[in-house]
Amino acid sequence: MDYQTFIQEQIAEIKREVGNGKAITATSGGVDSSVVAALAHRALGPQLKTIIVDNALMREGELQHVMQVFGDLGIPIELIDARSAFLKALRGLTDPEQKRQAITDTFYKDVFAAAARRAGARFLLHGTILTDIEETVAGIKRQHNILSQLGIDTEEAYGYKVIEPLKTLRKDGVREVAKLLALPDTISRRIPFPGPALAARVVGEVTEERLATVRAATAIVEQELADTGAFQYFAVLLNDCATGIREGRREFGQIVVVRCIDSLDAREATVRELPWGVLHRVAQRIVAIPGVNRCLYDLTPKPPATVEYI
Ligand code: XMP
Repeated sequence: MDYQTFIQEQIAEIKREVGNGKAITATSGGVDSSVVAALAHRALGPQLKTIIVDNALMREGELQHVMQVFGDLGIPIELIDARSAFLKALRGLTDPEQKRQAITDTFYKDVFAAAARRAGARFLLHGTILTDIEETVAGIKRQHNILSQLGIDTEEAYGYKVIEPLKTLRKDGVREVAKLLALPDTISRRIPFPGPALAARVVGEVTEERLATVRAATAIVEQELADTGAFQYFAVLLNDCATGIREGRREFGQIVVVRCIDSLDAREATVRELPWGVLHRVAQRIVAIPGVNRCLYDLTPKPPATVEYI
């Protein structure tokens, strides 16, 4: 595909759809939503409001980093604090699809609808890509950002129309577009991070305490495995405990799984054969997190596993 032509076409299409109205877009700093924000900024300039949502589910230092990058790009961005709305919506939920649904509803019904009303916007631009659509439609997993493909009329349900400029691309294509749009490497090469964020990496109930544990483990995995160049690497907190010993006493502690995969576009994935030395260092640091006394390495390719655990 000629990505330069793709960019021109999408900018023209966004301009045509929005006309002289207003639009909002939300970025997480991930490559998909950042490319959409950059395209929309080029197409709409001051008719666009870009937001970043603190949903209590982001990684260590992530919001600050994204705000800085967008500032450097000259794209104005507003931080919306929605931590309590997301934590409340997730309280007591353990079923993966119910957790995803709660996150979708909080994003689209609450946070985006309110932001669109405040901005006087009739359009929301978002970074759905082809793989998200295919897997949701195939019934494998409900991606948080799939709406119209599931028959949801967003104008009726949430009060705004959704525009999806990347719906014909896969991850590798989005990265090419990111480079052409001159987005920095920290964005164009950023490892995929799911919309439901750390909630996708907590099996069972998502609480502030459990988020803090998986956030600490994620930071360790990302530091230690950054040099691997693997497609994706992360930590998952299981909803189970195991007996261990800490400071000479029995501890029924938590279990963290480390996953590191190679893939082209996340449709299929193989497990990276990490050196033992690296795995040992990761494990040592992870079991130093309070309350965690086991660290496992996931050996399962996709299929039969999916990449994420919920
Ligand atoms: P799965 O777990 O479906 O993941 O094999 C495939 C790729 O998609 C990412 N992923 C998501 N991305 N919203 C997203 O934006 C989601 O709900 C979601 N679930 C999974 C995942 O990290 C992997 O790269």
